[in-house]
Amino acid sequence: MSHQPELNKYKQEIADLYTRRSQTYDNSDWHLQIARRLVKYGRVSSGQQVLDIATGTGHVAIAAAEIVGSEGRVIGIDIATGMLDRARNKAQELSLKNTEFMLADAEALDFPVNSCDRIFCSSAFIWMSDLHTALTHWHKFLKPGGILGIHTFADTAFVGGVVTQKVVKKYGISFNMSKPTGTVKKCRSLLEQAGFKQIEIKIEQDGSYISLEKAKAMWAGSSHPAPGQYPPPLSALSTEQLGQAKAEFEVELEALQTEQGIWNDITTFYVFGRK
Ligand SMILES: C[S@@+](CC[C@H](N)C(=O)[O-])C[C@H]1O[C@@H](n2cnc3c(N)ncnc32)[C@H](O)[C@@H]1O
Repeated sequence: MSHQPELNKYKQEIADLYTRRSQTYDNSDWHLQIARRLVKYGRVSSGQQVLDIATGTGHVAIAAAEIVGSEGRVIGIDIATGMLDRARNKAQELSLKNTEFMLADAEALDFPVNSCDRIFCSSAFIWMSDLHTALTHWHKFLKPGGILGIHTFADTAFVGGVVTQKVVKKYGISFNMSKPTGTVKKCRSLLEQAGFKQIEIKIEQDGSYISLEKAKAMWAGSSHPAPGQYPPPLSALSTEQLGQAKAEFEVELEALQTEQGIWNDITTFYVFGRK
């Protein structure tokens, strides 16, 4: 599985984006807190075999490795070499002997069937090109009774994305962001259709007031890969339309401003299913 995965343009752009981000990714502990919660709710225990899909800098993998101990094993996979380098350095610094990081595409894993007690995917599920196929693929690798845990955001999360969606819809553009996993019903249905049972979804209502400036910086331009959509949907707009859409986006945000700032919802779902 450690040979060079063949990446299409969409995945190569994601890999390049995260390799660029890898140097600063751990500066904030936001993803770390989410990853630790996912592992905690996922009831990891000593001796288990854990697969961390789209491991990034290894937040889930390292949290799980500390629990499974020397009898257990954790594998973290990702397509971004920069993120994997950071993960390996961290595991080395912690002298973790039960953890391995591999370059692999989450949607084309060559992994033994029925081999994992836990499979996690934190802050990364919406990057998959085909959510149903990805879940069906991962289901094979779980042992019977094993648990898959994924973390997603509600479709109300991130004011910049929500307002971008509203504005570009007028231009005939559908910008998905968290929409495919954006409700409890959608998450449940995705897992059920992939064969998972005993589905449990934990909802955490989070968010904060942010400045207008910070909200404006959330404009989802066209130069960036968009989760689950290639080419980025906004690249269908002309330069003139993009400029106009961005101006409308800023006007919409100004209308949302209160004395405390702009509410940035970050409602989070932790979704679990058993094989
Ligand atoms: C926001 S980061 C999350 C990293 C980590 N799971 C965490 O909780 O911090 C998203 C990660 O997904 C990875 N990724 C996206 N698509 C992938 C794919 N098809 N296969 C493997 N990794 C992928 C990216 O390279 C990136 O490291």
